[in-house]
Amino acid sequence: MFLKRSADSITVHSPAKLNLFLELLAKRPDGFHELETIMTAIDVFDTLRFTATDDSQLTLSCRFAPGTEAAAQGEDADALLGDLPTGPTNLVYRAVDLVRRTAGIEQGAKIELIKRIPAASGLGGASSDAAAALVAADIVWKLGWSRTKLSELAAQLGSDVPFFLHTGLFGNGMALCRGRGEIITPLPVTRRMHFVVVRPPGGLSTADVFRRCTIPANPFAASDLCDTLQSGTMTDIGRRMHNRLSEPSRELSTEIDRLTKSMLQAGAISSQMSGSGSACFALCQDPRHARRVAAKLKSQRLGVVFTASNCGVQWN
Ligand code: C5P
Repeated sequence: MFLKRSADSITVHSPAKLNLFLELLAKRPDGFHELETIMTAIDVFDTLRFTATDDSQLTLSCRFAPGTEAAAQGEDADALLGDLPTGPTNLVYRAVDLVRRTAGIEQGAKIELIKRIPAASGLGGASSDAAAALVAADIVWKLGWSRTKLSELAAQLGSDVPFFLHTGLFGNGMALCRGRGEIITPLPVTRRMHFVVVRPPGGLSTADVFRRCTIPANPFAASDLCDTLQSGTMTDIGRRMHNRLSEPSRELSTEIDRLTKSMLQAGAISSQMSGSGSACFALCQDPRHARRVAAKLKSQRLGVVFTASNCGVQWN
């Protein structure tokens, strides 16, 4: 979603995601896992401002948005929302650098990133920011690259970046993703879904979680949930939600079980970890139900708690 655009600057809102379904199919020779996942973008956004400069420097500044729970808690912010690297370890920096190298240009840019999406939480914040950075660089530096070309770069940066490029930033927000996550089939789901997301103190590393996973002998198929998402009740959807990575994540963090159980006790239709964790989400019937569940979870001080709905793209 683009907010503001001028000759040398653009501001992009990059959404978080939830994995409604994630199944592992095989381990590949390159170390990645073949999987099937259904992801939906949700209306919690980071904001990325990309400004072209006259020199060849790439500078990236990162901060939590004023008013976020982590910003309010000062030093506890890292534990609550995750670390904010500003150099080449930040995927945004790597995205813009990749664009420069691919285009063979040396133009500089000033990138300002305002974070609201917790890091190391399975909510896709870094991947979404990287997709936003690719699009911003392409537009501001007037490269005119096709979506196919941008997708190739996105897949080089990370397995979830193509989803954000195709579906989070431009599409209706929901897709079935295959391969290592980079083969995207948009799902024509237009109904609103309502969630409460909780990110416990302490994140999980995606690589650590995948290292501990086992491939099921009889994997679940995503197709059931794809059909249910179009026409089933929220209870039907909740019954078909699934995340195979919650098994290894539970070995790494006792918070996962605690959160998903607390969500059910608070009245959620269903609860599940997102991606490789550590954030979990509760599926709710409507916004009022979500607010009620969120209030109960907040009173238990389980971590950062927020309500969210699935979102598609609107251009401003
Ligand atoms: O692609 P991305 O950088 O997000 O992946 C982080 C790590 O997660 C990879 O290094 C890999 O260990 C693991 N991964 C995997 N199979 C996938 C996606 C990620 O094994 N489909």
